[in-house]
Amino acid sequence: MYPRLIVDLEKLKHNTEFLVNKLYPIKVMGVTKVFCAMEEAVKAMIDGGISFVADSRIDNLEKISTDLPKVLLRIPMQSELDRVVQVTDIVLISEMDTIKKLNNEAKLHNKKIKIILMFDLGDLREGIWFEEELNFIEEILDLDNLSLYGIGTNLTCYGGIIPNRKHLELLNELREAIESKGAKIEVISGGNSSSLYLEDLSLINNLRLGEAIVLGRETAFGEILDGLYDDVFTLEAEVVEVKEKPSHPVGEIGMDAFGNKPLFIDKGNIMRAIVAVGKQDVDESGLIFDGEILGASSDHLIIAGDYKVGDIIKFKLKYGALLRLATSPYVKKEVIG
Ligand SMILES: Cc1ncc(COP(=O)(O)O)c(C=O)c1O
Repeated sequence: MYPRLIVDLEKLKHNTEFLVNKLYPIKVMGVTKVFCAMEEAVKAMIDGGISFVADSRIDNLEKISTDLPKVLLRIPMQSELDRVVQVTDIVLISEMDTIKKLNNEAKLHNKKIKIILMFDLGDLREGIWFEEELNFIEEILDLDNLSLYGIGTNLTCYGGIIPNRKHLELLNELREAIESKGAKIEVISGGNSSSLYLEDLSLINNLRLGEAIVLGRETAFGEILDGLYDDVFTLEAEVVEVKEKPSHPVGEIGMDAFGNKPLFIDKGNIMRAIVAVGKQDVDESGLIFDGEILGASSDHLIIAGDYKVGDIIKFKLKYGALLRLATSPYVKKEVIG
């Protein structure tokens, strides 16, 4: 059955183990969101030696069965705190009002939740701005059902900021400032797959890794990392039509199915194949294969070349493609290895 997303569990375990060993003594939070916390894949990461399971969605964390601590990566919604308290052990957080409400909710459930305070060091996504006064720390330390377990930052997500030594030093200055107020910070969660290119990570003791484990790629420069597989996840899809047609549409060009005005270069007649997978399943700009992708609509991917109807086309994947494939209910999920 096609299209299908294939995950090679041996390769996934290898990538995890490789990074866990390379980074030791830094502990790895294995990020499962890009593959919707698919059970077998989560298990492969756990077998590979991650110390925490981390996901941005409560729904995903809820279905994971593990003795490892579960980490909520996205700043929690106030409307989901009841579930947050029941499902997670550690929460990345940045809003004082939400921290207090989380404490109240934890009290109701007689639980103690660990929090990692997120600091924004310039990427402009989540976190307390690094220059802000730290006058709220004592208030956090007074809360009975939360413990201030760590601090963290996230880079190369919204602003594309590349982590450097200064960011790690800044995190350590923040740790010292917070500890001077009586806290004991156990975890310095210094970033994600974009931090892997840094040679000296000794100022931090935790990384949250998704892409590097599942696609073998660091995300500061997008390079495949030595020793890692870049084909843990692959897509197979089936050709449903092959025809020779002009490379330039015939008639007046208005808008495509997504409201954009397409541009074409006339290269004369070419062989074109339609593959039965589309934008509803995948971001076609994130498909990697040897041939040429001409474009896609919701259900059709058009490639150039002399294929046969029934051919199965294999693709390697970039992050955005994997994210959508894993999320699409129309794509079969298959495990090997
Ligand atoms: C807060 C946070 N940390 C870490 C990650 C993992 O990032 P990457 O897949 O680049 O390793 C993500 C994204 O999935 C995230 O939102």
